[in-house]
Amino acid sequence: MIDPFARDIHYLRVSVTDRCNLRCVYCMPEQGIPLVDHEEVLRFEEFEHLIRIAAAEGIRRVRVTGGEPLVRKGIVDFVARIKAIPGIEDVALTTNGILLPQFARDLKAAGLNRVNISLDTMRPERFQAISRNGQVKDVWAGIRTALDEGLHPVKLNVVVMGGVNDDEIADFARLTEGLPIHVRFIELMPIGEGDSRFRGHFYSVEQMEETLASSGLILAGQKIVTGGGPARYTSLPDASGTVGFISAISKHFCLLCNRLRLTAEGKLRPCLHSNREIDIRGPLRKGVSDNLLGQIFREAIVSKPQQHSMQEEGWGEQTRMMSQIGG
Ligand code: GTP
Ligand code: 5AD
Ligand code: SF4
Repeated sequence: MIDPFARDIHYLRVSVTDRCNLRCVYCMPEQGIPLVDHEEVLRFEEFEHLIRIAAAEGIRRVRVTGGEPLVRKGIVDFVARIKAIPGIEDVALTTNGILLPQFARDLKAAGLNRVNISLDTMRPERFQAISRNGQVKDVWAGIRTALDEGLHPVKLNVVVMGGVNDDEIADFARLTEGLPIHVRFIELMPIGEGDSRFRGHFYSVEQMEETLASSGLILAGQKIVTGGGPARYTSLPDASGTVGFISAISKHFCLLCNRLRLTAEGKLRPCLHSNREIDIRGPLRKGVSDNLLGQIFREAIVSKPQQHSMQEEGWGEQTRMMSQIGG
C-alpha cells in the first residue's frame, strides 16, 4: 500500500492486549489503567481475519505488541496462525521479557522470527522503581532464553531518561561487546505517562552520543540489522552486537514511516502520535465483506499524516496510554 506521501506501508503493529504484568512509570499510572472489557477486545480469530486482509493489501511484516503480549492466553497459537498467512514474511514480538523463559521455545517453533525486549536499567532496585514491581533477573532470564532459542536478532529497548538511567548508557553499549544483541537507545516520547515526565527527563540522541563519547566509547560505521523500524545502528570495534538509536523526537523519521497500527479494541491507528483512529471492529463484527474491510485499511493509509510535530506542539490532548497502542 502506497500512501499519499509515496511511503510503502507494509508493516502492521498489532496490540493484542492492553494488560501488562509491569507498570513502567513512563507507560502507566501507578494504579494501572481501566482495562478494556473482554468483549471489546478482538478475539484472536478476528485479528487473524484482519491480518489476512491486511496481507492481501500489501502488509508483509507483523509485530505483535501489548501491553505485554505474552500475558494473553493463546499467544503461541496466534503467532503460528499469522505466520501461516500467505504474504506475511516476518513476525516479531515486543515484550518485557519476563515470560520468555516460559514461551520462547514454543514461539520459535510457532515461527516467530525475532523479539525486541524492553530493559531500561540493569540495576535491580532501579528496575523495581521503574517497572514498579519487576525483577531485573527475570528479564535477563528472558533475554538469555531468546538468545538460546535463536530468536535473532534480539534487540533491547532502552528508553533513556535524564536523571533516571542516563548513567547506564555506557554500560548498555558495552553489553554489545560480549553479547550478540542490539541495544537501542530510545528518546522518551510524550505519550501517556511519558507526557508528564517528558519535560524533566527528555534526553536526546545527541546527548546520548556525547555521553558515549565522553566515556571513551568509539562507535563507528553504519550497521544493518534485520528489522523494519526507525532505529539506526552503529557499533563498537569488534563487538558481537550493535548500538542503535531511535530519535523519535529530535530527528523524527516520519518520512520513512512504513507502518500502521491495530489496537486491541480493533481500531486502526495511522500514526502513533495522532489520536485519530478508525474503527474496524464494528464493520468486522457486522460481517461486512472482505472487500469492504480492505477498503477500510486503504482509507487508513490514505489518512496517514506526513509527520508529527511534537517538538513544536507537544502531544496535546492525549486519549491513549502507550500500553494501549503498543509503542
Ligand atoms: P523493528 O525495527 O522491526 O525491530 O521494530 P521497532 O524498533 O519499530 O519496534 P519496537 O516495538 O521495539 O519499538 C521500538 C521503539 O520505537 C518504541 O519506543 C516505539 O514506540 C518506537 N516506534 C516504533 N514505531 C514508531 C513510529 O512509527 N513512530 C515513532 N515515533 N516511534 C516508533
Ligand atoms: N517513549 C518512548 N518509548 C516508550 N516505550 C513505552 N513508552 C514509551 C515512551 N513514552 C517503549 C517501551 C517498549 C516499546 C514498545 O516502547 O519501552 O520497549
Ligand atoms: Fe508494560 Fe511495556 Fe508499558 Fe512497561 S512499557 S508497563 S512493560 S506495556
